[in-house]
Amino acid sequence: MNIISQNLSIDDAIKKIAELFNKHEIFFGHGTDNAVDEATELVYFTLNIDLSSTQNINDRIILEDEWKAVHKLAVLRTETRKPLPYLTNQAYFCHEKFYVDERVLIPRSPIAEMIQNHFNPWLEQKMVKNILEIGTGSGCIAIAMAKYFEHSLITATDISNAALEVAKMNVKYFSFEKKIKLIQSDLFDKIQGKFNLIVSNPPYVPREVMKNLPQEYSFEPSKALLAGDNGLDFIARILHDAPPFLEDDGILVIEAGVASTEMEREFKLPFKWIDFEFGGEGVALIEAKHLK
Ligand SMILES: C[S@@+](CC[C@H](N)C(=O)[O-])C[C@H]1O[C@@H](n2cnc3c(N)ncnc32)[C@H](O)[C@@H]1O
Repeated sequence: MNIISQNLSIDDAIKKIAELFNKHEIFFGHGTDNAVDEATELVYFTLNIDLSSTQNINDRIILEDEWKAVHKLAVLRTETRKPLPYLTNQAYFCHEKFYVDERVLIPRSPIAEMIQNHFNPWLEQKMVKNILEIGTGSGCIAIAMAKYFEHSLITATDISNAALEVAKMNVKYFSFEKKIKLIQSDLFDKIQGKFNLIVSNPPYVPREVMKNLPQEYSFEPSKALLAGDNGLDFIARILHDAPPFLEDDGILVIEAGVASTEMEREFKLPFKWIDFEFGGEGVALIEAKHLK
């Protein structure tokens, strides 16, 4: 590729990088789902423009050095297959930017949309006092919930101390130290109390599926993905152990992704599968009264 920037605008740069991505058939799915969106993130990151910037700056002509830096990062992405958020140490979730590195899963759960809708119509926002998140990783779900549920206290757990270090950084960055309690725990082991809402995006990838995932996934902690032979190792334990931790009118929201069909088959429970306006699937909601 020609690396001399001859009147290249930001828009041209995005198109060129998207072409490069398509040519190399890299996998999208770690925050973006297509070449243009990922190229936009890469170009904006390199030029230090916030993704949520409302100014229309895509006509701006970029400098040769800027183009060189954009191109270098794009080549690194295609050659290593490392997901872009691990190269930039940032990922977007619920319109907020989070610090990420290889200690945590890259935020992408469709649960984001439910949080932005305040889990309507299943919860009354004002009545939600205590929320528990199991398997918080970067802390993105807990932090987004802290933002959307101003009057709630959130307990967020993870078995991985390395992941909790990242969550701690993000909690501090958003100044939520008083609203979010981080606990190292194997699922509910160290949890006390009752919650109006329990949310979890647990590991749910079956062993065989794991073997055939695109290379990009190999950079994520296997502890965040792998869930035994049928993907239900953690889901089964959460469904079994959750009842004493739920208020009588509480709800459990659980992402099952590729294990959704198996979960439906295995547990004969009245799950409500959520329809997402902005994409995503495989998230079930169940009311406490149906679990007890
Ligand atoms: C799919 S990731 C979700 C991370 C984050 N909540 C998100 O949505 O981006 C699952 C998380 O569960 C954690 N985890 C795995 N086994 C666990 C266990 N037994 N108890 C608590 N957390 C666990 C992993 O370390 C990982 O951070």
